[in-house]
Amino acid sequence: MIYPLLRRLLFLLDAESAHEFTLRQMERLQEIPLVMQALESSRAEGVSCELWGMTFRNRLGIAAGFDKDARLVRFLAAMGFGFVEVGTVTAGPQAGNPRPRLFRDPAARALINRLGFNSEGAVAVAARLRKLDGLPLFVNIGKNRDVPIENAVSNYEEAFRIVAPWSDGIILNVSSPNTPGLRDLQSPVQLRELLERMRTMRALTTFNRPGVHPILVKIAPDLDEPGLAALVAVCLDLADGIVATNTTLDHSGLTTRLGAGGVSGRPLFDRSTEILRRVRQLTGPAYPLVGVGGIFTASDARRKFDAGADLIQAYTGFVYQGPAFVKQIVNVRIQGRT
Ligand code: FNR
Repeated sequence: MIYPLLRRLLFLLDAESAHEFTLRQMERLQEIPLVMQALESSRAEGVSCELWGMTFRNRLGIAAGFDKDARLVRFLAAMGFGFVEVGTVTAGPQAGNPRPRLFRDPAARALINRLGFNSEGAVAVAARLRKLDGLPLFVNIGKNRDVPIENAVSNYEEAFRIVAPWSDGIILNVSSPNTPGLRDLQSPVQLRELLERMRTMRALTTFNRPGVHPILVKIAPDLDEPGLAALVAVCLDLADGIVATNTTLDHSGLTTRLGAGGVSGRPLFDRSTEILRRVRQLTGPAYPLVGVGGIFTASDARRKFDAGADLIQAYTGFVYQGPAFVKQIVNVRIQGRT
C-alpha cells in the first residue's frame, strides 16, 4: 500500500541513485531479525516445483542486475522470490560505464540501461556467497570489458573458478548489449568453446553446495531465426537450460530518447515471449527454460508459462510495482504441464 508513495519519492531521484538508496535500505533491514521475521511470515509461498534436482518453493526469481554483488540475497528470499540470480559478476572488479547510465521511461513502463557490468568482482562476491544457504542461488557471470574477445573464455573460467563453488548454478551472460563484442559469443563456434570449457571447469570444481550445478545460457531477444536456431542447437548439446531474454536494443517501444542502452520492461514483453516460444519449439518439452522480459502482472506470468517457461524472472516489473508484485505472481500455476 505504501509502495506507490515510496515510488513517487524514489522516482524524484535519478534512476541509479534511487536503486542504490533502495539497496542500502534493504541491506540495513536485512540485519534486523524482527523485520526479516515479519517479511517471512507475511510472504506468499506460491507453488513449488523441482528442476535440476532442486526444489523451488515457487517459480519466480529476481532477474540478474538487481543484486549484482550479492548484497541482498537473504532479503530477496524473505520477500518471497523462489530463487535468486546475482550478477553479472566479472572476474576482476570494474566500474562500468560513466554515469548517467540508467534511465526510466515511466510512460512506457520501461528502464534503459548501459551500466556495462559494474561489478565488485568475483572475489568480493564469493566472500558474500560463502555465508549464504537456503533457496536456489544462481550466479550470472560475464566478461571484463578490458579483456579482448579472443581471451573471453579464460576470463569466464576465472570468474567461474571463484564464484561457482558457492552457487547452485551458473548463468553465462553472452547477451548484454553494453559490453562491446559480448553478443558475438552467441555464435555457435564461440558458444561451443565457452560451454565446453565451462563444463570442464565444473568437472574440476569442488562445490560447497550439493547438486548437479546446471550451466545456463542467457540469450538476447534480438537474434534472428537462423542465429537462434544455431544457438539453441549448441545449448541442447552442451548447456542445461536457457534464460530468455536479456534487454533489447530495439528502442521503438520507448516514449522518449535516452541514448544507447538495453531496454527492459513492458516494451520487451512481446519480443522476449516470442523468442521463448520459438526456443521451446526448438528444444521440445523437456528442456529447462527460464522466461524473463516485461512481466508486470499475473497474466503476463501465465503467458510466459504458456510460451514454454519452467521458471520466470523479473526486474523492471518489481521496480515499478514493489513488494506486492511478488505476492501477485508467485501463485500463478502452469496449466497443462507439470
Ligand atoms: C539488467 N539485466 C541484466 N542481465 C544480466 O544478465 N546481467 C546484468 O548485469 C543485468 N543488468 C541489468 C541492469 C538493469 C538496470 C536492468 C533493468 C536489467 C537484464 C535483466 O536481467 C532482464 O533480463 C531484463 O531486464 C528483462 O526483464 P524485465 O526487467 O523486463 O523484467
